[in-house]
Amino acid sequence: MDLAELNRVANAMVAPGRGVLAADESAGTVKKRFEVIGVECTEENRRDYRELLFRSRGMANISGVILFDETIRQKAKDGTPLARIIEQAGSLPGIKVDKGVKPLPCFPGEVITEGLDGLRERLVEYHGLGAKFCKWRAVIDIGPGTPTYYCIRANAAALARYAALCQDEGLVPIVEPEVLMDGEHDIGRCFEVTEKTLKTVFQELYLARVALEGMVLKPNMVVPGKKSPKQASVSEVAERTLRVLKECVPAAVPGIAFLSGGQSDIDATARLDAMNRMGAGPWKITFSYSRALQAAPQKAWSGKVENVAAAQTAFTHRAAMNGLASMGKWSADLEKKAA
Ligand code: 13P
Repeated sequence: MDLAELNRVANAMVAPGRGVLAADESAGTVKKRFEVIGVECTEENRRDYRELLFRSRGMANISGVILFDETIRQKAKDGTPLARIIEQAGSLPGIKVDKGVKPLPCFPGEVITEGLDGLRERLVEYHGLGAKFCKWRAVIDIGPGTPTYYCIRANAAALARYAALCQDEGLVPIVEPEVLMDGEHDIGRCFEVTEKTLKTVFQELYLARVALEGMVLKPNMVVPGKKSPKQASVSEVAERTLRVLKECVPAAVPGIAFLSGGQSDIDATARLDAMNRMGAGPWKITFSYSRALQAAPQKAWSGKVENVAAAQTAFTHRAAMNGLASMGKWSADLEKKAA
């Protein structure tokens, strides 16, 4: 393992002013997003939509792009591989390698992420296709009596095996344990579950001998459930999230890149900004958003060629706002000026 190279890539992914674009939605997820904007979910439409993002000026604030298996193999209209367009924009191509979630046997309502079988061979192929980093997402749902410790541990163990394999094949693992925002629970419950999850994940990473200097953590922020009657202020989310990270994430980890998880675009930006203003911690803190970066350009595009420029402008704006937030330099006024 070339740890210096892994560390170089991990640091590039979380460089100040930049963050990761998660564009690794499965065809099924893209279908749901396209239905909202009235676009047919064909391979060509998925390609055209992603190409417009990768060719936009917003890529200046994007350090890396997480791709789906289909996308890393796709070529743009002019024949250039999409992964090459990302590199030409000064960004790193990455790839989602988990195979999604399945019910966890004997644990009703809980899920386990699959995809370890044959993973080494797939990593070798993706490396050859230009990938520099990977992503694996574990899903932890909060409900009455859940998550169980067994579910957290089984998912953490899978994340650790994935991360070790990635490093062995020269790829930086994004380790993503997502505690979902669904439900009525309060912010305190999210804190508890996130703490238990992160403690368990770092224990498993240690046991699996994963080099922390060569990975990026992709956690949820500490937020109340979407249906909770008591929502939280920007500063409360930022304080609680920073507190749980300081308690659980070793300083050797170069960076933390949050998922947006269903927060509004502005909440995702404002909360990231607040954390960086509070003086973050030993690691860089940035974004690895899908929805909070793509909702606006998808709406602007709506599948029409004549809307490509407007969609690129919308994406460039969100990427720039989150780039500023990664340095604690965003303000709500900047959103108004753009409106
Ligand atoms: P969201 O930002 O939409 O939560 O997606 C991030 C991601 O990559 C989830 O795996």
